[in-house]
Amino acid sequence: MARKIVVTSGKGGVGKTTVTANLGVQLAKSGKRVILCDLDFGLNNIDVVLGVEDLATFDVVDAVEGRCRPKQALVQHPHYPNLYSLASNRISDRYVSPQAIRLILENLSPQFDFILLDSPAGIDEGFHRAVACADEALLVTTPHISAMRDAGRVVDMLKGYRLSRIGLVVNMVKKDLVRRGEILTPEEISEALRVPLTAIVPEEEKIFLENVTDRSRAFRLLAGFYTGTAAPAAEPAKRAGFMDIIRRGLKR
Ligand SMILES: Nc1ncnc2c1ncn2[C@@H]1O[C@H](COP(=O)(O)OP(=O)(O)OP(=O)(O)O)[C@@H](O)[C@H]1O
Ligand SMILES: [Mg+2]
Repeated sequence: MARKIVVTSGKGGVGKTTVTANLGVQLAKSGKRVILCDLDFGLNNIDVVLGVEDLATFDVVDAVEGRCRPKQALVQHPHYPNLYSLASNRISDRYVSPQAIRLILENLSPQFDFILLDSPAGIDEGFHRAVACADEALLVTTPHISAMRDAGRVVDMLKGYRLSRIGLVVNMVKKDLVRRGEILTPEEISEALRVPLTAIVPEEEKIFLENVTDRSRAFRLLAGFYTGTAAPAAEPAKRAGFMDIIRRGLKR
C-alpha cells in the first residue's frame, strides 16, 4: 500500500507544489512508484511544473464521478516512468468529499509506494479534504514570520487528524542571511513550531527539476529520508528560553 503524504503550509506561495514535484521526481528516480495528486482545485500546478499539462484527459473528479476508472486519470511522466500525476479539477469551488477522494486513492494505492498530495493554501475546505486523505503530513514554511505564523496554525489543525508523522521543510532559505543571524535558522524554526526538521531547501534562481544544485541535493536527501536511506535534516536545537519568546511571537 502507498504511503499518503499531504504537503501543506497555511500560507500560499511558500513552495508546496515545488516540494511535492521535486520530492516526487527524486522518489521516482530512486525506483519508487509515485503518484502526485493535485488537490489544489481550480489550478493544475503539478501538471504545469512537471510539464505534462497537455497530457491529462481526465482529472481526479472525473474518477470520483465515474467518468473514468481511477487508473485512467493518471498521467505517466514521459521522462520518469515511475512518476504519475493525477490532475486537479478545473473548477475551484466544486464540492468533492474527502471520502470520495480517499476511495480513489485506496483503489490506486496497492500499485504504488507513495502518493503525495499537493494541497491548496489556507485552512479551508480544500486543506481539510487533502489532510483527511493522508496518513502523514509534510509542512512547508519559509523563514518569514508570516509563513511561520500560518504554519503554526496548521500544526494545531494537523494535531486534530490521525497522522503518523508530521515533517517540516524550511524552504527558500538564504544561507547568507542565516549566517549573518538576520533570520531564524531552520533548526530554530523547527523548535518554535515543535515539528522535527526534515529538510532545508535553499532559495535558488533556477527551478528546473533536474539541475544539480544545493536545492536538488536537498530534495534527494528528503527522498532518502522517506525511503530510509538518509537521516532527517536535524533534530530541533535546544534553546528553550529563546524559543518560548519566538513561540509567543508566532501565536500573536
Ligand atoms: N527553493 C526555492 N528557490 C527559489 N524559488 C522557489 C523555491 N521554492 C519555490 N520557489 C518558487 O516560488 C513560487 C511559489 O512556489 P510554489 O508554487 O511551489 O508554492 P505553493 O506553496 O505551491 O503556492 P500556492 O499556495 O499558490 O499553491 C514559484 O514560482 C516557485 O518556483
Ligand atoms: Mg501550489
